[in-house]
Amino acid sequence: VVMKEVFDVRAMEEELTAKLGVKEVHIVPGDSDDYPWVLKEMGRSTVNVIKRHLLPEKNTIAVTGGRSIANVADMLIPDTDLKETLFVPARGGLGEQVENQANTICATMARKAMGRYRLLHVPDQLGRDAYESLIYDPIIKEILELIRSSTMVVHGIGEAMAMAERRNSSDEVLEKLKETEAVAEAFGYYFNADGEIVHKVLTIGLQLEDLKNIPTVISVAGGRTKANAIRAYLKRNPNQVLITDEGAAKEMLTKL
Ligand code: BG6
Repeated sequence: VVMKEVFDVRAMEEELTAKLGVKEVHIVPGDSDDYPWVLKEMGRSTVNVIKRHLLPEKNTIAVTGGRSIANVADMLIPDTDLKETLFVPARGGLGEQVENQANTICATMARKAMGRYRLLHVPDQLGRDAYESLIYDPIIKEILELIRSSTMVVHGIGEAMAMAERRNSSDEVLEKLKETEAVAEAFGYYFNADGEIVHKVLTIGLQLEDLKNIPTVISVAGGRTKANAIRAYLKRNPNQVLITDEGAAKEMLTKL
């Protein structure tokens, strides 16, 4: 029985890799919509994938916020391979609770892995003027360069409306997302079902186009309710590794 289950997961991973056109898919059993321990398992699986993709030296890992990535941080343990790693947040404030903020997760990862970290202190609601002046600040500029030259990115994917509400977005933004039929969110960008960008939160840090210069990009997202979001986001950003759960994987496969 155990062997058959192992085999089924493998087959599902292969099928999903081919259908999504991504680099690798890793599926953990269960559905994180129902059981929080499934997030822990995704976290554990992600730690293994991170270690496998480390460069021989000078690793800089950029991380986003969210519960999925917070669970990756929880699963990290000191490791000689990670000791020299620098952890940075992928982007500035995106309106999360402290425990789910990229800065917090980044510092936790560094502490648990005994690596180093740099933070990006930027307010959540950035106006144009503040944005323009921040990017010329020498300290911010230096960390932005570090972020852009990351060797790995580990990020979450959210369901568009759920993320907009979690961020307390204005009615105007909510309306825009409905009109443009946004289904997915990642890095503060919102996407429609075809994976086209329909809205973007103004903050500094990693931009979507920077991803193409980063050797390893890992997305961590599961739960059947995120299936459409994951598929939409990966449509135009398939050059990635996906860590997901059985709930999302099965739901995606019925529609692909
Ligand atoms: C946020 C990121 O912190 O977490 C988003 O800024 C991402 O880009 C989201 O979509 C995912 O959150 P969770 O809690 O579902 O892992």
